[in-house]
Amino acid sequence: MRLLVTGGAGFIGSHFVKRMLAAGEDVVVLDKFTYAGNPANLPEGVDCRRGDIATRGEVDQIGPVDAIVNFAAETHVDRSILGPEDFVRTDVLGTLVLLQAAEELSARFVQVSTDEVYGDVEPGWSSREDDPLRPSSPYSAAKAGGDLQVFSGVRTYGVNASITRGSNTYGPNQYPEKMLPLFATNALDREPLPLYGDGRQVRDWLHVDDHCAAIELVLRHGEAGEAYNVGAGEEHENVELAQLIVEHLGADPSLVRNVEDRAGHDRRYSLETAKLRSLGWQPQREWAGGQAVDRGLRSLDRLGAVEQREHTVAVTELEARVGEVVAGVSLVELACALQLPDRLLEQRQSACVIPGLHLRVAGIVQRFAALARPR
Ligand SMILES: NC(=O)c1ccc[n+]([C@@H]2O[C@H](COP(=O)([O-])OP(=O)(O)OC[C@H]3O[C@@H](n4cnc5c(N)ncnc54)[C@H](O)[C@@H]3O)[C@@H](O)[C@H]2O)c1
Repeated sequence: MRLLVTGGAGFIGSHFVKRMLAAGEDVVVLDKFTYAGNPANLPEGVDCRRGDIATRGEVDQIGPVDAIVNFAAETHVDRSILGPEDFVRTDVLGTLVLLQAAEELSARFVQVSTDEVYGDVEPGWSSREDDPLRPSSPYSAAKAGGDLQVFSGVRTYGVNASITRGSNTYGPNQYPEKMLPLFATNALDREPLPLYGDGRQVRDWLHVDDHCAAIELVLRHGEAGEAYNVGAGEEHENVELAQLIVEHLGADPSLVRNVEDRAGHDRRYSLETAKLRSLGWQPQREWAGGQAVDRGLRSLDRLGAVEQREHTVAVTELEARVGEVVAGVSLVELACALQLPDRLLEQRQSACVIPGLHLRVAGIVQRFAALARPR
């Protein structure tokens, strides 16, 4: 099968690419390489093209394929609150454009969606696939919009499309703005772990391999027009995760700091997964407290994660401060001196939404400035 994986340079997509290559499939990746896309996530030699799923001409460069699995999305809730427009463009319009391409190519289509589309779930209930979508954030609203495009694509245009709705996923190569890698790297650096509100929000933790196995199963055996929940049933409060991380890494528990809650923050997600299990899926990885953190950490590529985070934040900050900090040295010269990847320069993130990093940034800027002093 010739398979197009969009967003394949991101966290979950890159695992899926490796899985499908191992299964002998002919994989091509299309990725816009936003801050979250990292070529290093992909194995050597993968056919990978730069392109935006919301621009039809950039999708068409791929040519005929048998199937499309869409991971491409803006994915961070905090960023969606600061700037929802990109989320609507990629997560809704991008999905529509891919559905149109799938229709024309008669390709199978899988939309990788999220449990967040259901919104808050009351204690004692787990979301079924036909429950109403009640998204709370601009991110989840955009993902719900993508899901609705899929249903209409199936009904009106006969696209052979299914949806997966996965829960909070952990594993290697996750961009360190998300909770587990952010908290783990902060704990390693002895920096505060910013816990939203009372930290009692419940999330269902799913290992990335189990998530990818479910997506493959739905790709091969899912029915058109159907959504499938993917959750391991490992429901834990955020505060529990934070405590586990500090304990496991031997960090000071007082590093866990309650910060103002995120606007519109959902209290609980929970998924009923009988439909997916009836296709033969069950999670293979058990969340076993410290073991999960251990796996998450070992797999985090700790240095890589810290480095990537520093670079991204530093470039954003440098853009704002380059004039005052290193008068006469351009950002490009700085980047060359530091061998920063070009794609970091392409970012124009308006704000750094990772709490607690600004102190580190000040140090980085100074270090960069020293390195780049004209000879
Ligand atoms: N991470 C989770 O816990 C989780 C849980 C459930 C569902 N999901 C869904 O799974 C998918 C992948 O999530 P992730 O955590 O791997 O995301 P990620 O942010 O790590 O990666 C997203 C990828 O999409 C690419 N991308 C963004 N906009 C694009 C565009 N317009 N055109 C082409 N490529 C674009 C980025 O460059 C990046 O490589 C998303 O659709 C997300 O909604 C994620």
